[in-house]
Amino acid sequence: MDARYSFETLISAEELAAKVAELGEIITRDYKDKDTVFVGILKGSFIFMSDLVRQVRLNRLEICFMMVSSYGSGTRSSGNIIIKKDLENDLEGKHVLIVEDIIDSGNTLTYLKKYLANRRAASVKVCTILDKPSRRETDLVPDYRGFEIPDAFAVGYGLDYQEHFRELPDLCVLRRDGEQA
Ligand code: IMP
Ligand code: MG
Repeated sequence: MDARYSFETLISAEELAAKVAELGEIITRDYKDKDTVFVGILKGSFIFMSDLVRQVRLNRLEICFMMVSSYGSGTRSSGNIIIKKDLENDLEGKHVLIVEDIIDSGNTLTYLKKYLANRRAASVKVCTILDKPSRRETDLVPDYRGFEIPDAFAVGYGLDYQEHFRELPDLCVLRRDGEQA
């Protein structure tokens, strides 16, 4: 492990798994007989998506991914969203569930909800495993949420810092050398 950083476990792999199972049960109930499209937002959602789809039992589920970024830099997102990979799926009349790793300012999802609704989806809802409501800059409220976390920079379970640490099984707070908890 990189000696410049230390990691404090915030949510263990076991706690994440239990929560995903709970969300899967609720989502199964809500989407049972609907034409459903899960839209994962790359790259952060890839682990949550792969866990969640194995905890739902839906008859007509499509799984796809978009890649977006917000220009601006560092650890802060801006309201200017660029779509780097769009969907090929036809959404007309289908129920869309956006699957996201974390909601921070809310800028990315506020933009994406409108964008997907404009593609004539029957409904567009949001499921996030993590939420930092204290940082919100829009009125976005997730429809399904795993954990509320404090305003700290988290890595693991798909989340990165400069493209690293996505593979950590626990969700951790990243501390740079010399930083105090
Ligand atoms: P928002 O548009 O500010 O809500 O940005 C959400 C995106 O910022 C997430 O999908 C992540 O890619 C990234 N992000 C926000 N907070 C964190 C964090 O604590 N760790 C890693 N990525 C984060
Ligand atoms: Mg993301």
